[in-house]
Amino acid sequence: MLVTVEGIDGSGKSTLVKGLAGALADLDPVVTREPGATWVGEAVRRSIAENDDPMTECLLFIADHAAHLRHVVRPGLAAGRVVVSDRYSDSRYAYQAVTLKGLLPDPLGWLKAVHAPFTVVPDLTFLCVLPVEEAVTRLKANREHFEEASVLEEVQQNFLALAAADPERFVLVDAMLPADEVRAFVAAEVRRRAGAAR
Ligand code: TYD
Repeated sequence: MLVTVEGIDGSGKSTLVKGLAGALADLDPVVTREPGATWVGEAVRRSIAENDDPMTECLLFIADHAAHLRHVVRPGLAAGRVVVSDRYSDSRYAYQAVTLKGLLPDPLGWLKAVHAPFTVVPDLTFLCVLPVEEAVTRLKANREHFEEASVLEEVQQNFLALAAADPERFVLVDAMLPADEVRAFVAAEVRRRAGAAR
């Protein structure tokens, strides 16, 4: 079963995923992330730091996804493991739909078309949602470059539209709740779905 965790910067999803590794330890999950599960992540980090060309950056995120699928996600699923990824394709559909605006006629349509033939669609996606002002407050200095409130607002709207279009796959998480409550809720939901999938 493939489980992904999504949300804007500052939504607490990385803390949640780290907590899940412990809370689900008995299931022996593969806990992974995008970008950065393979060496391609280093190229992505460099691209983000250089803040150069949005299309170059997008294609590197997609290359990172391809390597992630080949080396981590598909082998994990083939071994019957629960795979939990901190960010995944929906991050492209939410963030790059913003960064590619004006460069392509239909960024979201293009992103989905590029992914469709080779990606693995998650079974379950948790979307951490919170007011953008709260996310910005939580973000510390020296962050990467998607932390402007207006951008994050748009990205969160994109995530919510993706969730509304696929309510079977998405579960919304109230990221304003205490971290341990969020973790307990998400872990219970993963167990419920994993049990049902067996
Ligand atoms: P991430 O490593 O999740 O951020 P952090 O761990 O520092 O919270 O992601 C880095 C940035 O890249 C973040 O702003 C989200 C962005 N991103 C995209 O724009 N598209 C993508 O496909 C992914 C995976 C991330």
